Amino acid sequence: MSVNRRDVVKSVIALGATAAGARTAAADNSLSLLDASIPHSDAVGGMLLTVEDYERAARARIDPTAWEYIASGAADELTLRSNVDSFRALRLVPHQLRDVSHVTTDVTLLGHTLSHPILLAPTACHKLAHPDGEVGTARGARLADTGMVLSSYSTVPVDRVAEEKPPLFWFQLYVQERGYTTDLVKRAVRSGATAIAVTIDTPVSGARNRQQRANFKFPENLPHISGNAPEHPLVWKDLEWIRDAAGGVPVLLKGILHPDDVEPALKAGAAGLMVSNHGGRNLDTCVATIDALPAIVAQVRGRVPVLVDGGIRRGTDVLKALARGASAVMIGRPYVYGLAVNGADGVKSVVDILRAELVMAMQLTGCASVPRIDSSILGATA
Ligand code: FNR
Repeated sequence: MSVNRRDVVKSVIALGATAAGARTAAADNSLSLLDASIPHSDAVGGMLLTVEDYERAARARIDPTAWEYIASGAADELTLRSNVDSFRALRLVPHQLRDVSHVTTDVTLLGHTLSHPILLAPTACHKLAHPDGEVGTARGARLADTGMVLSSYSTVPVDRVAEEKPPLFWFQLYVQERGYTTDLVKRAVRSGATAIAVTIDTPVSGARNRQQRANFKFPENLPHISGNAPEHPLVWKDLEWIRDAAGGVPVLLKGILHPDDVEPALKAGAAGLMVSNHGGRNLDTCVATIDALPAIVAQVRGRVPVLVDGGIRRGTDVLKALARGASAVMIGRPYVYGLAVNGADGVKSVVDILRAELVMAMQLTGCASVPRIDSSILGATA
């Protein structure tokens, strides 16, 4: 079913944006709120207006075993759910009558200016979602004007993905044997990765019971996976040789949750921190990321950027993360759903939806730019 423009306008207005407000925001962000709402219809003709719509449509397209891998969390999935629920429970207290006729969502991260703060988190094996795999994701990142962090578990070699030139291209590192890992970091940097994000929350993976029940197996011969375990699980000291291998390219740490880990991280030379619990896929019952964020931000005191991921499904979630001090956010499952539904265009649509919702939420809370977003718009937790 094609979605006609009048219906879309109606639905955007129903979401709460005035047509004039939508046009102004669109002009300032090179993004049409209306276009962001048109993207596609699903197999049974439903409109794809929200991340949840994409999730439903993706489920109908993805092989059921792969679905269990992508959508599931660890053990009883309490953290998977609380990542989402903790965002939802946080209440906003809007400022009124501030001038929001010109809204800008620009952010600067490690010297790169991006037109909005919604990046693509590293997720494994994109060919499970779409035959274009990570090439489709990189094209989607370009279309959506966003950054992409390529997983070590990519199904496409890093140099091939880099050719698609996403506006910001970082490589996520799972540390394997030292020699192999050193070569891998150098290869990623040679290919054009402008930062390395070392995942620190996976000395072992979590109790992936849904994956076990579905008998999920990773594809064989992934281009950056040796199949051999590291000599020992990663410890702080290893960051020295990883930074050496990166040869001056910034190294960020992904998976920080405890404020006590901030000083060792900065002492080890981390150029940025990603507050993450791996999308609830490792340690079940661990803290929701939006709840872990304030203590990390307080400890960092602006010395390096702090990103957060896990449970972001609405533009209001992005706003709340920024209000709690995040420099930017990353999404995981949502863009994989977009990729499954419509390749690169689907990735773009999901980012556009969140971006349009963020602009709307900024206007509705009286925040005309990212620096104007602060904790004053946060109320109680429901
Ligand atoms: C992940 N994540 C992940 N993280 C990482 O550092 N390396 C990886 O290879 C993967 N692979 C991966 C696969 C799939 C299918 C998912 C869903 C997640 C975690 C990812 O980077 C991110 O932390 C979460 O996905 C964020 O949570 P949401 O947005 O999915 O709720």
